[in-house]
Amino acid sequence: MWNKSLETGIRELDLQHQELLEIANELERCVNDGNPHRAWQEVLPRLSGYALFHFATEENLLIGLPSVAKELAAHIAEHRTFATKVEELRTSAPDLDGLREFIDYLQKWLVAHIGHSDQALVALVSAAHRTCKNRTA
Ligand SMILES: [Fe+2]
Ligand SMILES: [Fe+2]
Repeated sequence: MWNKSLETGIRELDLQHQELLEIANELERCVNDGNPHRAWQEVLPRLSGYALFHFATEENLLIGLPSVAKELAAHIAEHRTFATKVEELRTSAPDLDGLREFIDYLQKWLVAHIGHSDQALVALVSAAHRTCKNRTA
């Protein structure tokens, strides 16, 4: 599912996005194997932990840049909505149909969020850093 159009220009973020998409593939394998229990025992906890780690990486890029405070709040809200959805599923009973539905949401969310919100965030961070540099030059 990874392709160049999802690149942000920050290698660390791109690698983390690839890992998130790989976890989505792993969930699909659980569906294909008819094994929702593995998803609940191994893959959903991994998704939950890795997503929080990744979100913190992104949010830290914006913290301390006052010119993007509004965008940071909106971006954090998107992350929180996603994290809540993962926690709802993770704490529910293992169920193949529920997992299928969630994978559909997950794939769409990742592509839309990376392709729009994350790329916009990186553009803002770059612009804010350029402004800072110009001021101190
Ligand atoms: Fe991201
Ligand atoms: Fe993000």
